Amino acid sequence: MELAGSVVIAVANQKGGAGKTTSSINLAAGLHKLGLPTLLIDLDQQANASTGLGIDPASVHAGAFEVLQESPELRASLDEARVATSSGVELVAGHTALSHIETNGAGPGTEFRLERALRRLSEPRVVFVDCPPSLGRLTVAALTAAHAVLAPVSPGVDEISGLARLMQSIDIVRANDLNPEIQIGAVITTLYDGRNQVSKDTKTQLKDQFGDRYFGEISRTVRVPESAARNAPVVLYQPDSTAAQDYMDVAQHLAAMIRGGTDQ
Ligand SMILES: Nc1ncnc2c1ncn2[C@@H]1O[C@H](COP(=O)(O)OP(=O)(O)O)[C@@H](O)[C@H]1O
Ligand SMILES: [Mg+2]
Repeated sequence: MELAGSVVIAVANQKGGAGKTTSSINLAAGLHKLGLPTLLIDLDQQANASTGLGIDPASVHAGAFEVLQESPELRASLDEARVATSSGVELVAGHTALSHIETNGAGPGTEFRLERALRRLSEPRVVFVDCPPSLGRLTVAALTAAHAVLAPVSPGVDEISGLARLMQSIDIVRANDLNPEIQIGAVITTLYDGRNQVSKDTKTQLKDQFGDRYFGEISRTVRVPESAARNAPVVLYQPDSTAAQDYMDVAQHLAAMIRGGTDQ
């Protein structure tokens, strides 16, 4: 289907292991399966989203690090940096060098550079930005560029209270006019095990807190790390697994919103 304009979703949560990368890869691959053009931007120095889609970050000529460069001579456009992957999702790869930008920035205007780059993307796409496990410069750049935040939350009391910190960062981005409309648009419970009371409590609390912005649970299953070891999204490698079906349900929900939004 044709999109009227790109839809940018920042997948963010400062906690490592919350399921950001797994969700980014699988929702991008899921929306591609549903017929939408998708791009994943890997903003994490660990580059797990890149390897998860079968791309060795050392093999690309330019990635997210180059896209964020201050100097126009060193900077790459998203069109120059994007590479095809076997999943059908296009990727702008992560790299260990992103840690320099996280620590030092990349000159004045670092926080707007991803947004500017996205505006120049040749064709509209659904763009997922896989954020690092912190609320530093790279996550701020993603929050500045995004139309909405998708927050994956793994079961636990600290995980729920940790969401308040993400919401504070979003408030700061809004208050500083970096992105006046940004808010959490979707929350999912990841690593969900229905036999476990902590999982059930987390689901109930997130549902109560976020109402129709709560998009469901992703089952915990060994199929997910198995697929990661094969450098493939579980929605493609093990499509009959519970987690793959759960991700496809969330992808359907997102696709309906995106299609609804672009019809207007
Ligand atoms: N639904 C799931 N079932 C089992 N393992 C999962 C699931 N989702 C994520 N994982 C595993 O949990 C770990 C952390 O997930 P990841 O997506 O890398 O989190 P983050 O990007 O937030 O740090 C990874 O090893 C991943 O394979
Ligand atoms: Mg990650």
